[in-house]
Amino acid sequence: MCGIVGYIGDKNAVPVLMDGLKKLEYRGYDSAGVAVYAEGKVQIRKYKGRLSVLEEHLDKEKLSGNLAIGHTRWATHGEPSDANSHPHTNEKGDIAVVHNGIIENYLKIKDFLISKGYVFKSEVDTEVLAHFIDYYYEGDLAEAVRKVIKEIKGSYAFAVITNREPDKIVCVRKENPLIVGIGEDENYIASDIPAILKHTRKTYLMGENELAVITKDDIRFYSENGEPVKKEVFNVDWDVSAAEKGGYRHFMLKEIHEQPKAIKDTMTGRMAKDSDTIRLDDIKLTAEELERFSKIFIVACGTAYHAGLVGKYLIEHLAKIPVEVDIASEFRYRNPLVDEKTLVIIISQSGETLDTFAALKEAKNKGARILSVVNVVGSSIARESHDVLYTWAGPEIAVASTKAYTTQIIALYEIALHMADLKGTLSKEEIKTIKDEMLNLPAKIEKALGNKEEIQKFASKNSGEKDVFFIGRGLDYAVALEGSLKLKEISYIHSDAYAAGELKHGPIALIEEGTVVVALMTQHELYEKMLSNVKEVKARGAYVFAIAKEGNKEVETIADQTLYIPQVSDMLSPTVTVIPLQLLAYYMAVEKGCDVDMPRNLAKSVTVE
Ligand code: F6R
Repeated sequence: MCGIVGYIGDKNAVPVLMDGLKKLEYRGYDSAGVAVYAEGKVQIRKYKGRLSVLEEHLDKEKLSGNLAIGHTRWATHGEPSDANSHPHTNEKGDIAVVHNGIIENYLKIKDFLISKGYVFKSEVDTEVLAHFIDYYYEGDLAEAVRKVIKEIKGSYAFAVITNREPDKIVCVRKENPLIVGIGEDENYIASDIPAILKHTRKTYLMGENELAVITKDDIRFYSENGEPVKKEVFNVDWDVSAAEKGGYRHFMLKEIHEQPKAIKDTMTGRMAKDSDTIRLDDIKLTAEELERFSKIFIVACGTAYHAGLVGKYLIEHLAKIPVEVDIASEFRYRNPLVDEKTLVIIISQSGETLDTFAALKEAKNKGARILSVVNVVGSSIARESHDVLYTWAGPEIAVASTKAYTTQIIALYEIALHMADLKGTLSKEEIKTIKDEMLNLPAKIEKALGNKEEIQKFASKNSGEKDVFFIGRGLDYAVALEGSLKLKEISYIHSDAYAAGELKHGPIALIEEGTVVVALMTQHELYEKMLSNVKEVKARGAYVFAIAKEGNKEVETIADQTLYIPQVSDMLSPTVTVIPLQLLAYYMAVEKGCDVDMPRNLAKSVTVE
């Protein structure tokens, strides 16, 4: 994610920036830095670690200037380190850039710039921007930036200052947020409103592909072709806490809505519309190595374990390799049959969960190859793994995991397709078909997010329930487990998920008049079977809330309430099916007045056994 702030005016910019960065720490916190125009030159201070590390240095130094940009980082390319922190500069150090996003074609640009004699100091994609602006600079910073954005691909919001034109900040945005704050003889930029709310409530929200040139008393916007753009002032009437949550009532709801973007980011650079391969440069697994593995274990806890259950289905189905999924706290104590012929896939949002980390070490000691799917770059699990595939969900603040789960599933599709490609179990054409549908998932999830009415209706009617059961078959069963966990952890309503075919072996005894059953009915192949199971619980008096694919009118005749998700193939349905379940848990918890973002007895990162 990362957070950006900038200031130009008569005040000392440093405290303004530090204040703003503190408000943006929720966007990333593994390193931070500032570029301040002071004593006739751009001066950079940047350090790995929380913002307090930067703050201590700046307090000692008394650095001061009226023009500055700052950054709080959430690593994507290159682990957290001083060198990889922003701002990044050209070689002379007189052009400084802060960036939020991903420059997809940075390797190509880097090669080009190296061929022109440019020398790089970091592993970060952003550094190409500083050198590229230098390359195009001919006396007009905005013009150089304009030329650069014609050549770069990806998603970005970035800001540039230079001591060659120390009266301005130039910034652009594409698919990542950036706002401009309007002051009196001073102006601001920021990734998000909370960063500048203390100074002004008058803002401009930058549009897609817009470029802004900001001086202390003027703000101008341009389209990507250089035509001036007129903008309306947006007056912010939120309080600070609402602003941090982007106007949402809770971080959980904000993060649920961030999923289309998080999923898109997790696919960026790895799969493109015009290609039939999946590029996973971070996984150095050859076809021969893959052939050597007789078995794969997926090991994780909680929600990450539920993503693993989907992963098992995908890898077995697409790459034809047997997979076992284990709960980390069990795996580490059951002396699993692991050796050099085993691949262990570790899944963890935080990369710090103690049980998962211990399981990793156990497997590594036995000679297994470790591939981890992690959200936090440079975390303990990432550092101990042979290969890491990062999910690019950005920081997850709410204790209940939402965007981490869906991005983990996306990463597992990528792994399964990559393995299928290496093993030749799918043709290029089949891979392309699945990949093209995956690229449409963000739009489908967006659509599913628009469908809240039925869920709110359900929540207001059923929030007083003591028990809620989730049932499904195949991939729907894996998603049912996650829906049930979400509900119990934030609403404190007892809930269990069952494979629908198992009901008759015991759980159906729990069904009585009015028992609430959430039935997932998205799997075409298993639909008829599922229909029978729904009829079984209905016959015993259950109130059935069905989730089915658009166009399936039959479900309405059986269920008490039906919610439709957009059409999606069975295999790709979990990231869409889970959306109403996340919303259902959320609205049930809100109805009950629970502390949604910080449920009782739970912690975001579980570093105890
Ligand atoms: C549930 C939840 C937890 C985590 C689990 C693993 O909403 O968030 O079940 O999934 O504690 O955490 P990570 O993924 O950080 O290893």
